[in-house]
Formats: sequence, C-alpha cells, structure tokens
Amino acid sequence: MEGDGFRIRGFRSDDLDRVMDINVECLPENYSKFFYRDLYRRFPETFIVAEADGGIQGYIMCRVERGLSKFKGLRTARLCHVVSIAVREPYRRRGMATAVLRAAMRNGRESYDASECYLEVRVSNEPALDLYAVLGFSRVKRNYGYYMDGEDAWSMAIPIDESV
Ligand code: ACO
Ligand code: ZN
Repeated sequence: MEGDGFRIRGFRSDDLDRVMDINVECLPENYSKFFYRDLYRRFPETFIVAEADGGIQGYIMCRVERGLSKFKGLRTARLCHVVSIAVREPYRRRGMATAVLRAAMRNGRESYDASECYLEVRVSNEPALDLYAVLGFSRVKRNYGYYMDGEDAWSMAIPIDESV
C-alpha cells in the first residue's frame, strides 16, 4: 500500500532490531525481544511497518484479546489492543500512523474477528490523542497512575466496522 512517500507492509522477523530501535527512540515503554517475537508469532497480521527512504520509519503492534466490550454493556468481544505505535520524528505528519493503524484494524477484523480496537495513551500525549480522535476513537476511561512514572492513561476505543 502506498502513501505520501511511504509504503506499509507486514512485519518480518529480520525487521526486529530496527523496530526495537524506533520504539526506544520514540517511547519510554520498551520491551524485550521475547515480547515482540511472541506478539508477532500470535498476531502477525496486526504487526505492520511503514517504510520510507529505504528503511522502516514507523510500526504498530497489537494483541487480540477477548474482553468486555467498550461499547456494548456487559457483553464480551474480541478486541484489537494496540500495544505500541510510533513513527520516527522526521517522518511524522505524513499519515504513516494513520495508515498502519487503519491497516491493523482492518486485518484485526478480517484475520482475527476483532470487532473493536482499543489502546491506552498518556493524558499529556497530545499528538497521539489528536491522532486517535481524528480516527474516531473515543475516551472510555481514565486509568489513574497507569504508567510507571505515575502518569494517568486515557483508555480509548473504536468499533471496527466497514468504514475503517
Ligand atoms: N499535533 C496535532 N495533531 C496531530 C499531531 C501533532 N503533533 N500528530 C498527529 N496529529 C493528528 C493530525 O490531525 C494529523 O493529521 P494532519 O497531519 O493532516 O493534521 C493526524 O493526527 C494523523 O497524523 P499522522 O501523520 O497519521 O501521525 P504520525 O505519523 O505523525 O504519527 C504518532 C503520530 C504515532 C503519535 C507520532 O507522533 C509518534 O510516534 N509519537 C511518539 C510515540 C507515541 O506517542 N506513540 C503513541 C503512544 S500510545 C500507544 O502506543 C498505544
Ligand atoms: Zn495497552
């Protein structure tokens, strides 16, 4: 798939070092190699990278879970949980995050039967809050002291329908 000077494709095992570097560069929440490999093994279709200028500049990885619907009262649903998404700073505001997130939602629905997507985001993370709002996510819950440093998270969610 093509975008504004970038393309997106599925993650491959030999992308791992590059994705881990981008994660460390962009976010304080970092993970072990085992953690990435385990997510890829279980949910390969929702682990997606964006390439530009001959290299990976952004990624998304998700875990599909059964849990309480964020929209339908006490019913359970399959939820596509965005564990981590990041785009390297020089490549921001070109639609890369939008592209990988929409692809992950589509694949989550088509490959894993997910009917909703959700994530947590720092209450101070305005770029990410704006991105999710533009995509149609709503704030479903404030999680007090969610992060290691004590910051709160917004839990945000969206139904995955044909329009995604
Ligand atoms: N300020 C205001 N609005 C913004 C901003 C910003 N800095 N960034 C994105 N948006 C909104 C805009 O409406 C934008 O559309 P526009 O550029 O036409 O105005 C829209 O979101 C789409 O933006 P994209 O270009 O798709 O987003 P981008 O590729 O720049 O990536 C991201 C956004 C992932 C939040 C990036 O800034 C980043 O990597 N930040 C650091 C890591 C991070 O915070 N990741 C999310 C943590 S939460 C989690 O992982 C579940
Ligand atoms: Zn999470």
